[in-house]
Amino acid sequence: MKVAILGGGPAGLYFAISMKLRDAAHDITVFERNKPDDTFGWGVVLSDETLDNLAENDPVSAERIREHFAYWDDIAVVHKGVRTLSTGHGFCGIGRMRLLILLQERARELGIRLEFETEIDDPRPFMAEYDMVLASDGLNSRTRTTFADVFKPDIDVRKCKFVWLGTHQKFDDAFTFIFEKTEHGWVWAHAYQFDDETATFIVECGPETWEKFGFGEMSQQDSIAVCERIFKDHLGGHKLMTNANHIRGSAWINFPRVLCERWSHENIALMGDAAASAHFSIGSGTKLALESAIALAEYLHTEPTLKEAFDKYEDARRLEVLRLQSAARNSLEWFEEVERYLDLDPVQFNYSLLTRSQRISHENLRMRDPEWLADAETWFQQQAGAEDNAARAPMFAPYKLRGLTLKNRVVVSPMAQYKAVDGCPTDWHMVHYCERAKGGAGLVYIEMTCVSPEGRITPGCPGFYKPEHEAAWTRIVDFVHRETDARICAQIGHSGPKGSTQLGWEEMDAPLKDGNWPLMAASEVAWSDANQTPKAMDRDDMDTVRDQFVAAAGMAERCGFDMLELHFAHGYLLSSFISPMTNKRTDDYGGSLENRMRYPLEIFAAVRAAWPEDKPISVRISANDWVGDAGVTPAEAVEIARMLQEAGVDICDVSAGQTSKQARPVYGRMFQTPFSDRIRNETGMATMAVGNIYEPDHVNSILMAGRADLVCLARPHLADPYWTLHAAATLGDRGVTWPDPYLPGRDQLYRLAERAEQMTGKV
Ligand SMILES: Cc1cc2nc3c(=O)[nH]c(=O)nc-3n(C[C@H](O)[C@H](O)[C@H](O)COP(=O)(O)OP(=O)(O)OC[C@H]3O[C@@H](n4cnc5c(N)ncnc54)[C@H](O)[C@@H]3O)c2cc1C
Ligand SMILES: Cc1cc2nc3c(=O)[nH]c(=O)nc-3n(C[C@H](O)[C@H](O)[C@H](O)COP(=O)(O)O)c2cc1C
Repeated sequence: MKVAILGGGPAGLYFAISMKLRDAAHDITVFERNKPDDTFGWGVVLSDETLDNLAENDPVSAERIREHFAYWDDIAVVHKGVRTLSTGHGFCGIGRMRLLILLQERARELGIRLEFETEIDDPRPFMAEYDMVLASDGLNSRTRTTFADVFKPDIDVRKCKFVWLGTHQKFDDAFTFIFEKTEHGWVWAHAYQFDDETATFIVECGPETWEKFGFGEMSQQDSIAVCERIFKDHLGGHKLMTNANHIRGSAWINFPRVLCERWSHENIALMGDAAASAHFSIGSGTKLALESAIALAEYLHTEPTLKEAFDKYEDARRLEVLRLQSAARNSLEWFEEVERYLDLDPVQFNYSLLTRSQRISHENLRMRDPEWLADAETWFQQQAGAEDNAARAPMFAPYKLRGLTLKNRVVVSPMAQYKAVDGCPTDWHMVHYCERAKGGAGLVYIEMTCVSPEGRITPGCPGFYKPEHEAAWTRIVDFVHRETDARICAQIGHSGPKGSTQLGWEEMDAPLKDGNWPLMAASEVAWSDANQTPKAMDRDDMDTVRDQFVAAAGMAERCGFDMLELHFAHGYLLSSFISPMTNKRTDDYGGSLENRMRYPLEIFAAVRAAWPEDKPISVRISANDWVGDAGVTPAEAVEIARMLQEAGVDICDVSAGQTSKQARPVYGRMFQTPFSDRIRNETGMATMAVGNIYEPDHVNSILMAGRADLVCLARPHLADPYWTLHAAATLGDRGVTWPDPYLPGRDQLYRLAERAEQMTGKV
């Protein structure tokens, strides 16, 4: 096959090598605009695992690369003058120039033609002349632009500015992150050794800081002088160096995240940064390029046609690329928002940095560096005020809110049971909630309990509006207090526009087949075409409902609940005021956020005044309507939380969505936790995270990284009332309290868990 390769970076060269190795008869030419040794950048990071893949493909070049690897195991984080070191991370680096020269040599040996100083303006003549063309022309690929209508690139230019520098200062003991506060804001560096004399030193900062320094107008040398001044304490008198002299202007760039809908067209395929880029902070761009080169070369030799080979290449590589891009996005977003975390204690900041891509969890860190993690866990217990400061998973740290102390950070999230009769909880509720209270969670929520009959969601929802409700709830609360050390919180709410609907397992959110009751809401906006249009509340309605909330809180207090939550989320009455999707009012209760929050805050103030001083109140919000700027956005949720905080709400329970039928949520593991993280770290308010959190590892990572103070699990507690006790058994934590009658069960579980650990070689 006659093959042209446009761009002689890692992707192009390694594809050429991989093709030739599979069939020496191929006639291959690589066209590269630069000279052989005229390459940008300094070192790149690879892993031993990547090198094993390369060795299988071509042991000769893999061995040469390995000979030039610089290895390091540690990550150092320098923050607030404290240098924290953790180990077990296992990276290796190589100079980019060295890597390219090795690949060039290997290509020449195999008989591949390398045409340097050849600028390719248009890929089409090559497509006509060659059997197959590879476009490996990098981040700003001209081929991608030429066929933009086919490849459909999506390029997201990210906000931070960075410049890729080098230095002879040694960073050979650890991959080092340095955060420096300057007169214009924070500037940070990613530094790592890649050969005996040289380290990469990438300097990065936010756009405002960059503007204030005036880096955009500076020459490269002037920029470097400023960076040398900023990082002088870490450079030991060494200079920073650029090797991007061929680039005009400042050499600072914004990272473009590149995605393409398609990677091939006729006889041309995209590869490497041209097809998909991964942020440098997870160091995987070169790995992706090299592994894609192997995959395409392989398919070109196993598939009968070019088209089938291209299709297979896209199918096989796309998933891996998306997986890495997702981790890279988490990581780059962490750096974009790093100023949010810089006030954290150095231990927590370090943990947050190490887990930023969400590929490394709490237990991964324990495997990498058990000592460091034990110190971090001890720190967490200390700052939580634990009696015993021994290292323990963060989920088992106590938590204090006003006069309430929770034994741990796990919360049974509120979940409607639809089993009440005429608003009255039944034996179902007694068994359901008491079982969960026995199951080890620190705090058990009861489901949304309604302030009036017409404030119920369904006929099966419970209430706080009749004396018999009070008696039934009291029985449950008494059991929880008498027999367990869990605490119990009442969530109170009013269904508003989502009321008078069928039970959860019938047609959810659909009106009742008969016996519907009239609805009210902020505005006359029906939940869906099938639902009733609610009445827009007038002031009398507002007074009535406010008084119902106060009366319900009074009942909850008499029942003995330890804590109260007001339901401001999920499209119910108070949420209908907050979301612009459902609030169309033109009076003092509609329009601006201040107006939309006025009535919910009025309810909070009235309830707070009636609720005992030493008992906390939380508020659940929908931190994202998932409709873009038309609804509540995560940024507006920060403002909502600030208003709640100022009003005296103790903790914000950060949920999302269910406010509009038009919502397009993006689901995933812990998908709502970023909203909690943002609120907690931008306002300083305590938060609870919820949503698709189901493993102890998730809970511990969230808490330890300071993304929430408490973690709610809903569905996992439907499947397993004893979720926390089981988590403790799996983690080897023996400090949890089991009910006395269940001790033989506990002992057997512990024995089985220990045996399982021995079998897997953990002990
Ligand atoms: C600051 C920074 C740090 C990075 N750190 C790492 C890291 O630690 N680890 C890692 O794995 N990756 C890292 N990367 C990413 C890595 O450099 C790229 O992902 C990788 O080089 C992709 O290889 P490629 O062959 O697709 O593209 P490139 O390496 O960009 O190669 C493209 C080649 O095409 C040539 N070319 C472009 N246009 C034309 C044209 N019109 N005519 C002729 N030739 C052309 C270019 O000169 C270039 O040689 C980093 C990137 C940056 C920006
Ligand atoms: C059956 C069921 C009923 C729910 N009822 C309520 C409720 O009454 N009040 C509330 O705020 N959230 C309610 N939710 C939402 C949960 O509290 C939680 O936010 C959501 O299920 C996401 O958490 P998970 O992924 O752990 O299930 C309910 C969820 C389920 C599955």
